Amino acid sequence: MARRPIVGGNWKCNPDSMSKLDGLVENMNSCDISKCDVYVCPSPLHVAYVCSKVKEGISVCPQNCNFKGCGAYTGEMAVEQMKDLKMEWVLIGHSERREYFKESNELLAEKMKMILDSGLKCIYAIGEKLPEREKGLESTMAVCIEQLQMVKGLLDPTKVVIAYEPVWAIGTGVTATAEQAQETHAEIRKWIAANVSEECAAGIRIQYGGSANAKNAPELSACPDIDGFLVGGASLHPGCNSLTQ
Ligand code: G3P
Repeated sequence: MARRPIVGGNWKCNPDSMSKLDGLVENMNSCDISKCDVYVCPSPLHVAYVCSKVKEGISVCPQNCNFKGCGAYTGEMAVEQMKDLKMEWVLIGHSERREYFKESNELLAEKMKMILDSGLKCIYAIGEKLPEREKGLESTMAVCIEQLQMVKGLLDPTKVVIAYEPVWAIGTGVTATAEQAQETHAEIRKWIAANVSEECAAGIRIQYGGSANAKNAPELSACPDIDGFLVGGASLHPGCNSLTQ
């Protein structure tokens, strides 16, 4: 089954000033959107501005959302507000949110259900840490399965994209080799086939994230189970548009 590739740029908590935003938006707007879906994840304070600047066809995707809707939740962003800004996607489960903000698989399952129930779509990030990778594929998959277990009933390929981001490759410049990434993506797809459905496994898109850039993208995107990228650092610099080629 042909899966349309999807590429996202995760700006994380960058840039440090509004004056730098137009350059980043220009990078994103230079992306070719004819061959793949393209989205950008601005820092929360910049989301509304970027919504007003990105070209038609590029989605703005918040990097997180509140576990409930609007209301007495200081510091949060609600799905109703995202819909009001005509957004389509929400990223949850990034390893930095799991690490620094202690987001559990249970909380993320609650968030995903709320996102989908609200009519938005979800980019769901998973991935193992270096000690788990060093113990081999079985231990890597044990982590990914634990992260998928709570949301397996929600994995609708038309509404959910999985972003496999080995934590040891994020921001380190140490990208997973094409073999490592393909092997893990294939195992994730195999687990989905066995625990959700063959149809879901065939249709769900799995992005790779973790020091993806213009140089390593061609080899990674040639892998049959890699359906695009979630790019951090490289999305903050010109040239990231080549990942959508
Ligand atoms: O969400 C994508 C991000 O975690 C990857 O970061 O800088 O390794 O591309 P980076």
